[in-house]
Amino acid sequence: MEGKNNSKLNSSGRGISNNSQKLCFCKTLTFKLSVSLIVLFIIIFFITTVILINQNRRQVLEIVEKNIIRTGDIIKRSTRYSMLLNRREDVYQIIKTIGTEPEVSGIKVYNKLGIIKFADEDSLINKNADLTSAECSPCHSIQNPKLYLTTDERIRIFTNEKGERIIGLIIPIENEKECSSSLCHAHSEDQRILGVIDVQMSLASVDNIMQRNKNSLILHSILITLIISIFSGVFIWLMVHKRVKALIKGTKELSRGNYDYRIDLKSCDELGELSKDFNIMADNLKKALEEIKALNENLNIKVKEKTQQLKEIYSHVNQIERIASLGKLSATVAHELNNPLEGILTYSKLIIKKLNNNLNDEDKKKIIQYLELIASESERCGNIVKNLLLFSRSSETNIAPNDLISILERSLMLINHHLQLHNIQLVKDFCCRYLEFDCDKNQIQQALVAILINAIEAMPEGGTLTVKVNCENNFVYIRITDTGVGIPQENINKIFEPFFSTKAGGKGTGLGLSVVYGIVKQHQGKIEVQSEVNKGTTVTLIFPKKLVAEMG
Ligand SMILES: Nc1ncnc2c1ncn2[C@@H]1O[C@H](COP(=O)(O)OP(=O)(O)OP(=O)(O)O)[C@@H](O)[C@H]1O
Ligand SMILES: [Mg+2]
Repeated sequence: MEGKNNSKLNSSGRGISNNSQKLCFCKTLTFKLSVSLIVLFIIIFFITTVILINQNRRQVLEIVEKNIIRTGDIIKRSTRYSMLLNRREDVYQIIKTIGTEPEVSGIKVYNKLGIIKFADEDSLINKNADLTSAECSPCHSIQNPKLYLTTDERIRIFTNEKGERIIGLIIPIENEKECSSSLCHAHSEDQRILGVIDVQMSLASVDNIMQRNKNSLILHSILITLIISIFSGVFIWLMVHKRVKALIKGTKELSRGNYDYRIDLKSCDELGELSKDFNIMADNLKKALEEIKALNENLNIKVKEKTQQLKEIYSHVNQIERIASLGKLSATVAHELNNPLEGILTYSKLIIKKLNNNLNDEDKKKIIQYLELIASESERCGNIVKNLLLFSRSSETNIAPNDLISILERSLMLINHHLQLHNIQLVKDFCCRYLEFDCDKNQIQQALVAILINAIEAMPEGGTLTVKVNCENNFVYIRITDTGVGIPQENINKIFEPFFSTKAGGKGTGLGLSVVYGIVKQHQGKIEVQSEVNKGTTVTLIFPKKLVAEMG
């Protein structure tokens, strides 16, 4: 009845939920079936026992009634002849002899007036009977006196003063022809009943036997109920519990992913059918799983191949993009450098030409002017090259815990003389005195200085520069606001492009905000710009707070 277990757990079954909770025995089918059967047996045997006990009591009583009727009949017949001859001594002896019988508890002969004329006990003779008592009233009732009583009406059962049950029988002594014609003490002919014989027999021994029978019946019923219950229990255990358990074990193994498990129930009933179907289902599941596995493996291989292809395409595109951007950069750099270099070349040639001629004062002045232009154009070339170097180096970062407030203060110190020069008022609004920040302090300082210089350059006529630091939700915000010229809407999206500059006369390289953008990105931050022409600009740097530990 147990399953064949290869104990090989399939790894793919790990995801299937396993209900390994043990079922409480009182909730099992076996328990419910057993209890129902036992209750049924108890009810059946209880009813049967009660019926049998009542039947036994009726049968015993019938025998006792027959017995007392026969005894009464014997007394009547054996005393008849002596009574006819009025041999009172003989009647008395007969009654006494029968009265000594072990079952007989009393014999009394009453005359018509209810006076005891003969009795097995001498002390009762000549005593009066109570004619209103239950046993006398049927015949002596004033309203409805009966002449003849049925056998059932003549029999009564009562309990005496010793607590014993007694059965009593009244036998009427009828007036017969011989009696009315007898010379001795003749009774008149119209007198129908001359008296009654009252026979009483003890039911003690009968009650004892009935009690014994009753006990034995109850005992046997209990024993039979027990035996049948045990037998049923064992039967249910073997036929239901063990087999259902085997089925449950099978389903559990299957749900754990053991698709090799089979249930081995060799029976032709419903459970046997169920186990066969289970095994077929497990076979099908195993096959389906193997198919899925094969498909999965195929899919994995295909996904790997495609991923590899995609990687190759991506690296190819990347390379193309890099070449393209390098080309774009080279073109832009060439264009940016070409303009000042052309100026340098033109003015150099002019100087050479002027030097070859005789120089007058005006020429000298012109040469100085050209040389100044050459110097400024060379400076511009130098600036472009310097910013390009910064731009290219922006990927090399040296991240360490630094105080953001100190970095800000240092940056403000660097631009302080510009503020004074341009009559700009500085407003500082820092949320704390110390803000620990994992960053490359030189890069952050460089970014801050670039933004501050832009702000100063936007306020040639003076204004207010506000630097605000605060922490909101999980971010730290650095807001630099100026009251300068502002950025037109169409330029907002261009300001981070390399070499975009609106500054005239080659004053700006247009690389400042590109460098800032790269630095902010490297610190997982964001940069936002809000601006209104002739009102001012706010540049906001936003860094995630996980990089920041606030203090003070
Ligand atoms: N605070 C600002 N107010 C007005 N315009 C600004 C401000 N900041 C940036 N800009 C605009 O964005 C352009 C690009 O700025 P970016 O810093 O990249 O270059 P630049 O300042 O022109 O030159 P560089 O910084 O290389 O000397 C500027 O030319 C200017 O037009
Ligand atoms: Mg700038």
